[in-house]
Amino acid sequence: MNRYAVFGQPIAHSLSPRIHAAFGTQLGIALDYRAIETGRETFASKLDAFFRDGGLGANITLPLKQNAMALCSPLSERALRCGSVNTLTREGNGWRGDSTDGVGLLRDLARHGIDARGARVLLLGAGGAARAAAFALRETGAQELMIANRTPARAQELVDALDAGARALAWNALGRETPFDLVINATAAGHGDDALDLPSGPIAAATVCYDLSYGKVAQSFLVRAVASGATRVIDGLGMLVEQAAESFALWHRRRPDTAPVHAMLRSEEG
Ligand code: ATR
Repeated sequence: MNRYAVFGQPIAHSLSPRIHAAFGTQLGIALDYRAIETGRETFASKLDAFFRDGGLGANITLPLKQNAMALCSPLSERALRCGSVNTLTREGNGWRGDSTDGVGLLRDLARHGIDARGARVLLLGAGGAARAAAFALRETGAQELMIANRTPARAQELVDALDAGARALAWNALGRETPFDLVINATAAGHGDDALDLPSGPIAAATVCYDLSYGKVAQSFLVRAVASGATRVIDGLGMLVEQAAESFALWHRRRPDTAPVHAMLRSEEG
């Protein structure tokens, strides 16, 4: 059986095994896709064991996306640019590293009928997830991309890595901003106890608010967005499915239809 896995911590509730199983069933491809729990300390040895057991591909999630870079050679251009890796493909004696998060975001935005081209976009955060989103948004032609991060130097660093259309914005200046077309939360605020301290200036009724996370983790931002008047809030469940489809296509050279999988997951939401 062709072996695949997702590595992360916590990983027990990951939807990736079900998503990939559904894609495999749809296309008649037999595969064994498991979730492997590991923190940073044991990641390299568990990945190595997976390789020796014949693993063909892996997805990498929190908190390992940056660590994974060091364990891959070669790295795709987009993985190098965003400084993180979420897809490993067995190649020779090791792993080729790629990042499908950015394209997953763009595909999900398109699925929702959101065209980032020509839009005024605010991106919150400057970590690995934000970097993948930022490069994808600029590539797709977002007209104006403002990046705000709790630690301003990281936002500036990301802006410097992008082209001229991006600008760093101080977090404490957000309250003075006029509403954006699209606000994307790429911070890890919802993962811990600290809530996202976001003023309402950037958000109005017409602002689409999108969180790269899904489930409870996304609520910190999305509830805040609704309180600020947003009428369209979207979590990252769709992006999860779309980035998975991109990984699947890299491994199996066939692209699944994501619509039935989106429908399956949404129908199960409480
Ligand atoms: P990931 O790979 O998920 O992007 P990361 O690289 O650790 O994870 O980045 C986490 C991001 O969430 C950072 O932008 C971080 O801000 P700092 O650079 O200032 O650390 C942001 N973040 C985490 N908790 C936050 C909070 N409570 N409020 C605002 N931003 C937060």
